[in-house]
Amino acid sequence: MRPSVQGTAVRLTGASKNKVAAVAKLTQISRAPPRHKVEAMTDQAPTMESEITDIPGKPTSASRTTLSHIMTHNDTNLLGTVHGGVIMKLVDDAAGAVAGRHSGGPAVTASMDEMVFLEPVRVGDLLHVKAQVNWTGRTSMEVGVRILAERWNESTSPTQVGSAYLVFTAVDADGKPRRVPPVMPETDRDRRRYQEAQIRRTHRLARRRAIRELRERRAAEGYED
Ligand SMILES: CC(C)(COP(=O)(O)OP(=O)(O)OC[C@H]1O[C@@H](n2cnc3c(N)ncnc32)[C@H](O)[C@@H]1OP(=O)(O)O)[C@@H](O)C(=O)NCCC(=O)NCCS
Repeated sequence: MRPSVQGTAVRLTGASKNKVAAVAKLTQISRAPPRHKVEAMTDQAPTMESEITDIPGKPTSASRTTLSHIMTHNDTNLLGTVHGGVIMKLVDDAAGAVAGRHSGGPAVTASMDEMVFLEPVRVGDLLHVKAQVNWTGRTSMEVGVRILAERWNESTSPTQVGSAYLVFTAVDADGKPRRVPPVMPETDRDRRRYQEAQIRRTHRLARRRAIRELRERRAAEGYED
């Protein structure tokens, strides 16, 4: 279950309910990526068409979220800069909020991919963790996160200090995967992110399959580990 986001400011930069419905209608017609292409990349059994279309899509902006937090001395590592784990928790918190908002219920972190730290973060930095759903599958969502830092008391432009991609799976009360609304990218940038997320998904599945096959082969050859 998602941890609560205490002591941090969560700001939903999405649209109002009415705007969401209007955008959903528009993007469904003109811009929604074809579902059959998405499903073809999964390792799941093919999904019935009726199952695919009965959940209305949600535009990216409906769940896009920014979480902001000032870094203090409690957040440092032994070098005096901010501990990577502190940043990863904020990333997971922001992405979890987005996944919960998009899927309309609980969602758990299935994997954290490509967490990149570009610049050290310092005490006194105001961190902005910006997250959005990049892609949706049947029950999972890829959430993309950008991390920006600015001095808390200076009016300079924020610098990007990191990024990450996380996969969340929506779950029901028994912790079993449940279906998610298809995300509907709205801008060219959203559409590029959707396409890039599909590439990452394909690679994740191929890597998982290759490792599983290697282990099965080794087990068949009599190796114990
Ligand atoms: C994530 C979890 C619900 C998946 O359950 P499962 O029984 O393996 O379910 P499935 O194999 O049917 O996978 C469900 C979806 O998750 C995706 N998924 C599962 N494991 C994944 C992984 N390691 N990386 C990326 N995606 C993954 C599947 O691709 C599938 O997506 P799709 O429906 O869109 O195609 C389960 O492994 C779990 O509860 N893990 C613990 C989560 C947790 O505690 N997180 C930390 C705290 S929030």
